[in-house]
Amino acid sequence: MGLFITIEGGDGTGKTTVMSKVVELLEKDGLDIVRTREPGGTVIGNKIRNIILDKENISITGMCETLLFAADRAQHVEEVVVPSCNAGKVVISDRFFDSNLAYQGVIHGYGIDKVYELNMIATKGVVPDLTLLFDLDPVIGQQRINSNKNREVNRLDLKNLEYHQKVRNAYLEVANKFKDRIVIVDASRTVEEIVAEVYKIIKNKVKGMK
Ligand code: TYD
Repeated sequence: MGLFITIEGGDGTGKTTVMSKVVELLEKDGLDIVRTREPGGTVIGNKIRNIILDKENISITGMCETLLFAADRAQHVEEVVVPSCNAGKVVISDRFFDSNLAYQGVIHGYGIDKVYELNMIATKGVVPDLTLLFDLDPVIGQQRINSNKNREVNRLDLKNLEYHQKVRNAYLEVANKFKDRIVIVDASRTVEEIVAEVYKIIKNKVKGMK
């Protein structure tokens, strides 16, 4: 069996930058890494992603959005995560169901337990072996986003700082509920420091692989 690792956190927490560097190091060590993401990660998932992130779809309902994220995940798990893990690979997904728990469960108010239940149906019980939550004060996160001019601006980026604060708190609530699985990474440090910590955590987890 391989390993299934998920990366979580609000916009601008540096997940993508850090993980690119960590994956490079892990591959140098000879590990077979499958890097993937949600929403997206499959052809069908990317179509769902386009519906969710389309700036014109402002009338999408909260429940429709919740179910679309879960539908994307169902496809992703069956098509990418499970086969790759079965082939002994290390799957690293940028976002997974903890995003659903934080954004839809806590912020939209559907409740962590209800959205978790939905996800157990969508993933047929697949749960990450390890989740890294990139935690950062959203004021710093926004500054980082604004200085990165190349990044696409989508419908979900347009929300304000207060919202990003809610996202941070929602994630911390989720992390508190799943203490055994979720490790909180202090993302206010330099990229080098975070890369070193994340690399170490993953290497330790890999040691326990059968
Ligand atoms: P994306 O551009 O992929 O953001 P990022 O680069 O920060 O990962 O957009 C994904 C957005 O979708 C992000 O704002 C979080 C949100 N999201 C949910 O609300 N629920 C979910 O289940 C998932 C997977 C993502």
